[in-house]
Amino acid sequence: MSAVLAPLSHDPSFAELLAGRPMLRMDASAGLCIEEVPLVRLAQAVGTPTWVYSAATLTRRARSLAAALAGAGLAAKMHFAVKANPNLAVLALLRHEGLGADIVSEGELRAARAAGIPARDIVFSGVGKTLRELRLAIAEDIAQINLESAEEVDMLSALAMSLGRTMRVALRVNPDVDARTHAKITTGRSENKFGVDIALAPALYARICALPGLEPVGLAVHIGSQITQGIASFAAAYARLGELVVALRAQGLGVRRVDCGGGLGIAYRDEAPASAQAWAGAIAAGLGGLGLEVMLEPGRWICGPAGVLLAQVVLQKQGTARRFVIIDAAMNDLLRPAMYDSWHGIVPVSPAAYVAATAPADVVGPVCETSDTFTKGRALPDLPSGALVALLDAGAYGAPMSSTYNSRPLAAEVLVHGADWSVVRERQGFDALLAGSRIPGWIGG
Ligand code: LLP
Repeated sequence: MSAVLAPLSHDPSFAELLAGRPMLRMDASAGLCIEEVPLVRLAQAVGTPTWVYSAATLTRRARSLAAALAGAGLAAKMHFAVKANPNLAVLALLRHEGLGADIVSEGELRAARAAGIPARDIVFSGVGKTLRELRLAIAEDIAQINLESAEEVDMLSALAMSLGRTMRVALRVNPDVDARTHAKITTGRSENKFGVDIALAPALYARICALPGLEPVGLAVHIGSQITQGIASFAAAYARLGELVVALRAQGLGVRRVDCGGGLGIAYRDEAPASAQAWAGAIAAGLGGLGLEVMLEPGRWICGPAGVLLAQVVLQKQGTARRFVIIDAAMNDLLRPAMYDSWHGIVPVSPAAYVAATAPADVVGPVCETSDTFTKGRALPDLPSGALVALLDAGAYGAPMSSTYNSRPLAAEVLVHGADWSVVRERQGFDALLAGSRIPGWIGG
């Protein structure tokens, strides 16, 4: 995984895209298959757009990350960042692989519990946990709450005391390290809202130790997401945390655990992110030898490459200057290109289209926004109405960032397991789309 490749000056070809994604295979008669299931069959049975996840890929990636940690001599505990993919089947499958859950809301807490993840394997992160959410976390007696500010420290102490309880907490430190990723997903700079300035951490940690209702267990850090520019920013963050652990202990304060966050990137186009082994090595270098329990909150690395968004061409529109391939998936489904200008591989499902001559095309959705554009000037074959395409690496921050904008129901989700597959979330119906809306009587008939 993640061998360092020379950056491509051109978009990867369909064959190059499939070569890096072992769950996908172009079959000369059945077309593009995910594991043993032809995508055309899923389109017929479930319709489009549909998110399709590979169970084998989820399992393989969870295991290889665990193996990398073990290989670096770390007895680390992984909590899957539920925000990356809160589908209950995905959570249950990862639970089976021994992962717990990193949650950021009551909804994610409920999803994790509904998927069978015990409270003792749940960590609560986030800058704005409400009193109601904290009360629920205490009632469930989850493993740990990561506190992100002095204000939140006081809030939780008072709440826990009023409930006659003591809660295990870690202090999320902002190490002021540049993760060199997209500005919208950088979290570890001092100008970001996340965590507590590392310079203020010793005093605040001492305060946590002194306050009733809180049992300090250690520190947490998360510097950003889709980190692909080498391992240096991770290494710097973990080294700073390691120094902080030593300093806190020298003050006589107990620190037994460090939660190392998530953030390791994946190759969507030609990025060459550090390997899982390098990530584990950076953790070991910064924090190994301190007798710490290590935790990790990976999201994208585990589930991103495990999913595709299957879509159908509505029509191909020849503009004066450009060819538009208009598909039935849109920015309300996969928001990432509109929000972060992110690149996703787009591969035709039909064997004939896969080998046909290509010409530049813009792939767009039907939503009434110019940003509803998945790609511009991509080399693609003729894709007439009804043609199917797979948008790759859509398993993380795909379905969970969907909306119903333009009154488009949420797409279905399917989990493939070998030659078998199951709908793991039904397509939203139009009744469900309108359910809950009310026209007050005073508006009149
Ligand atoms: N832990 C915390 C505290 C986080 O905030 C996040 C992600 C993670 C763990 C997991 O990070 P990962 O391993 O997945 O990089 N919607 C954006 C990504 C936002 C990430 C937010 N926090 C995207 O589509 O690229």
